[in-house]
Amino acid sequence: MQLEIDTGEDNDSLFSEEGSTRSASIASSVLNYTYENGRRYHAYRKGAYLLPNDEEEQDRLDLMHHIYRLCLDGKLHLAPLKPDVQRVLDIGTGTGIWAIDFADEYTSAEVIGNDLSPTQPSWVPPNLKFYIDDIEAEWTYSPSEAFDYIHVRGMGGSILDWNKLYQQSFKNLKPGGWLELHEPEAMFRGDDGTEKAAESVQQWQGLINQAARKFGKELDRAPLHKQRLIDAGFIDVHEEIFKVPVGPWAKDPKYKLIGRYQREHAVAGIEPYTLGFIVKILGWSQEEAQIMIANVLNELKDRRLHLYVPFYYVYGRKPESKSEPA
Ligand SMILES: C[S@@+](CC[C@H](N)C(=O)[O-])C[C@H]1O[C@@H](n2cnc3c(N)ncnc32)[C@H](O)[C@@H]1O
Repeated sequence: MQLEIDTGEDNDSLFSEEGSTRSASIASSVLNYTYENGRRYHAYRKGAYLLPNDEEEQDRLDLMHHIYRLCLDGKLHLAPLKPDVQRVLDIGTGTGIWAIDFADEYTSAEVIGNDLSPTQPSWVPPNLKFYIDDIEAEWTYSPSEAFDYIHVRGMGGSILDWNKLYQQSFKNLKPGGWLELHEPEAMFRGDDGTEKAAESVQQWQGLINQAARKFGKELDRAPLHKQRLIDAGFIDVHEEIFKVPVGPWAKDPKYKLIGRYQREHAVAGIEPYTLGFIVKILGWSQEEAQIMIANVLNELKDRRLHLYVPFYYVYGRKPESKSEPA
């Protein structure tokens, strides 16, 4: 589908943000955060993840959650889950916002969210628990704790070994259980050629992807998930792709709204990604990075550019038995 461009006048402002307060009572070692370039980073498995975990970053993740949901017209998932779904795992839960919404909607479910950072709120639905965990380590769930549904969102740049993640998910799902991944492509695209004029944006994305590869945790994974799920033994594998505009340039009201949020989100993400990937991994200086950030932000706000990011939603089912045909 090609998004039609709105040629009319438009108010670009979106919303004013409110601060949020979070607390957690956990071992102090996981709270022993590192501070660099004015941002705060996780302590558990220090250095394993390149983005910050401070309030600013938490706000970015919550905004992203809103965008993921808007694409799905408010839905939290595409896999055809039973209304009484039981065991649910949200890998790398971030602020826990998806897990909280899911636990609220499916009160029958026992939901687990895990992350390296204890940045989730303590007031959560009674059917939800958060754990500090490294999802790249061996999972230790017993067969009686197998899941009906595993949700993986926005984990590009976090995973060294994706095949291991698909396989651990497969192993820890009940027969008939679903794995679902939501992931933006690490690319700014366009359908009218204006994406080529966004030179700083394209250079920036290329450098970010290069840095992620050097770090060993690739960002540009989204288009691979479908085939990798099939290779890992999943069946009924589906992929849906939504074009998420950067800015309110689309004529369709749904995509115009999503575009407003996505531009706010992209603006919020440029600095932490630049510091984490281009400065830390590629060794750019702060001064070089600040010039690049300014150029990228200018282009993201340029209404003549009709950029979008493809968001991939992929889900597949573990067969009921070894003999169930694909
Ligand atoms: C981009 S955020 C996505 C958060 C959440 N899934 C969402 O969509 O809102 C990536 C999250 O993965 C977590 N993470 C990265 N590596 C991890 C690991 N090895 N084990 C557990 N969590 C990890 C980070 O701390 C961060 O919260």
